Amino acid sequence: MIWDPRHLPSQVGKTVVVTGAGRGIGYFAAEQLAAAGARVILTTRGETAAIDQLRSRVPSGSCELVTLELGSLASIRTAATALAALGPIDVLVNNAGKTSGSRRREVTSDGLEIMVGTNAYGPFALTALLFPSITGRIINLGSLSTRLATADLSDFEQARGRYSVSRAYAYSKHGVHAFSFELDRRLSASGSSVSSILAHPGWAVNGNSSARPGVTDRNSALQRIAERALRPVAHGKDRGAWPVVRAAIDPDAAGGEFYGPARSVTGPPVLTKPVAQSADPAFGAEFWRLAEAATGVSFEL
Ligand SMILES: NC(=O)c1ccc[n+]([C@@H]2O[C@H](COP(=O)([O-])OP(=O)(O)OC[C@H]3O[C@@H](n4cnc5c(N)ncnc54)[C@H](OP(=O)(O)O)[C@@H]3O)[C@@H](O)[C@H]2O)c1
Repeated sequence: MIWDPRHLPSQVGKTVVVTGAGRGIGYFAAEQLAAAGARVILTTRGETAAIDQLRSRVPSGSCELVTLELGSLASIRTAATALAALGPIDVLVNNAGKTSGSRRREVTSDGLEIMVGTNAYGPFALTALLFPSITGRIINLGSLSTRLATADLSDFEQARGRYSVSRAYAYSKHGVHAFSFELDRRLSASGSSVSSILAHPGWAVNGNSSARPGVTDRNSALQRIAERALRPVAHGKDRGAWPVVRAAIDPDAAGGEFYGPARSVTGPPVLTKPVAQSADPAFGAEFWRLAEAATGVSFEL
C-alpha cells in the first residue's frame, strides 16, 4: 500500500493516547489522528489551549485531556490510572519529551538526571503501568541525535565527569530506541499481539508549521522567523508528525520497524534504519534493567 500522509485510513472506533500533545509534534499527531476519526486522549502538563484548538479544527472529533508530568513518577502513576480508566487503548504514542535544558546537570523530582529521567525512563514507566490496557501499538519518539553520541550505559545519567546537556539528550534518545526495540523483542517472544514501533520526525520547527493559535506560537516570533530560514533542512511540526502517525496506524507497519522522513530531516514518512548501538539486543536488555532499577517499576511481559 502506498502511504499518503494527507489521506489516512479511517480510525473510527480506535482510541489513541498521545503524550505531550499540548504543542509540537504531539499536537499535530493528535489532530491528524482525530481528523481520521480516532478518539484521541491528549496528555499535557496542564495546558488546555491544544484541546480547544483540536475541537475547533475537528468539531466531529472526540478528544479528552489527562495531566502527565514525566519528570515525576507519582504523576506517571496517577496518569496511568486515569488513562486506564478511559478504557482499552489501541495505540499509545510516547511523544512527550524534554528537548532543551540547562548546561548544569538537573534532576527530576525523583532524583533522576532530567533528560534520561523524562525522555527515556518516564515513557518506560508509563508504558509498563499502562500495558494491561494497551491492545495494539506502542509508538516511541526516537531521534537522529543518536547518530551524534555513543551512549555509555555505565554512566547513563552522567553522574561522573563533565555534564553535557546535548549528550544527555542523545543518551535519552538512545534509551528510547533501546526501549522500543527491546520491547518489540519481548512482545514477540511472549506471543503478544501488541507491537512496538519507533518513529522520528527529522528536524521539525514551529516556524515552518501550519499556524495553530496557542499551540505553534508558544516560542517567540523572532525565533519562528529565524526557523523559517531553515526551510530546506527543517520542516514543520505538522510534517514531523507524519512518521509518528504512519507508525501508529499504517496497517502494513510492523513491530520493530522505524519510520522517519525520506530525506532524513524532511520528507514523506518512510522506513528507516537506527544506529547499530541502540538497536543491539544486549544494549536493550541493559537499558531495561537500568530503567526498572531507576523507576522501581517492573515491566514483566
Ligand atoms: N522537533 C524535532 O526536530 C525533533 C527531532 C527529534 C526528536 N524529536 C522528539 O519528538 C518529540 C516531540 O518534539 P517536539 O519538537 O514537538 O517538542 P516540543 O515542541 O518541545 O514539545 C514537547 C512536548 O513534550 C512535553 N513535555 C516536555 N517535558 C515534559 C515533561 N517533563 N512531562 C510531560 N511532558 C513534557 C511538552 O509539554 P509542555 O508544553 O508542557 O512543555 C510538549 O508537549 C520529543 O520526544 C522530541 O525529543 C523532535
